[in-house]
Amino acid sequence: MPDSHAPAPTVLDEILSGLSAGQKTLPAKLFYDDAGCALFGRITELPEYYVTRAEMALLGRHAGEIAAHAPDGAALVEYGASDEAKGMALVDSGRGAFSAYVPVDIAACALEAIAQRMRSSHPDLPVLPVQADFLQALALPEQLGERPLFGFFPGSTIGNFRPPMARRFLGNVRDTLSVASTPGSVPCLVVGTDLRKDKERLIPAYDDAAGVTAAFNLNILNHVNAVAGADFDPSRFRHRAIWNAHEGRIEMHLESTVAQTVTVGGRPIAFRANETIHTEDSYKHTREGFAALALSAGWRSGGFWTDPESLFGMHLLLG
Ligand code: AVJ
Repeated sequence: MPDSHAPAPTVLDEILSGLSAGQKTLPAKLFYDDAGCALFGRITELPEYYVTRAEMALLGRHAGEIAAHAPDGAALVEYGASDEAKGMALVDSGRGAFSAYVPVDIAACALEAIAQRMRSSHPDLPVLPVQADFLQALALPEQLGERPLFGFFPGSTIGNFRPPMARRFLGNVRDTLSVASTPGSVPCLVVGTDLRKDKERLIPAYDDAAGVTAAFNLNILNHVNAVAGADFDPSRFRHRAIWNAHEGRIEMHLESTVAQTVTVGGRPIAFRANETIHTEDSYKHTREGFAALALSAGWRSGGFWTDPESLFGMHLLLG
């Protein structure tokens, strides 16, 4: 993360530095152009991708208990809102505890749609979307006034971050939520994380039979072509999903099927045959492992919930 004096790196800088490394990488946030948002929506409905269904099942059972931890009149600040279903489950179970909904996401396409649907289903609830890369310092809307904040980071999006980055993010969120918390109250953050499980269950979830995840992974190249003036040919790459047991994460890669040179922002980037671009990490934290990570960022555990199959976990963190 850049320090507060240096300008934030541009997307082109991030792309070029990732593609110049020994193990080439691309930032996972680049998955979410309009086509990528639509493909991710299809992933959530795949038979193999249990993640979203397990989290919704968890919320179906426990949203009331979770929302009961929100201070009265709190604004629900949802980080990485890809749709409003999870936020709505908390709002609807909160018996009027929430006085505003603040979805934060980098993808403007998703945000506007979320805000519109939430406004029409909940006409009395102010909806204040914030389009931002939530890894950078976050400016919350002034209209929130003195409302206490209740942070919500569902979807296992935190699984995209390596532990040092996850720690830094959790610390930043704690700072953001603390500033706004009223005297005597403590900041609260609810985080959804996919749990560790057998490789036999994990791999198909990231390499489905219909090839939707492959299309999602390959689409990042189209997005890079558009934002970095690059000439990637997605048909010369193939999707790979591997379980890295040592790190406890699924990795997605794009493997060059041939030796080739691609031009990115005017610079030649050479690939050997079978060389990969590492496009995503999806960490599968154990309950204890995540609690320890949160502790190292200054949070303590205030509760934990799971779905009936123990696939997905939801942690309540208190500051
Ligand atoms: C949105 C980051 C939670 O890691 O499961 C789905 C993204 N990548 N299939 C995940 C994703 C491939 C997803 N997250």
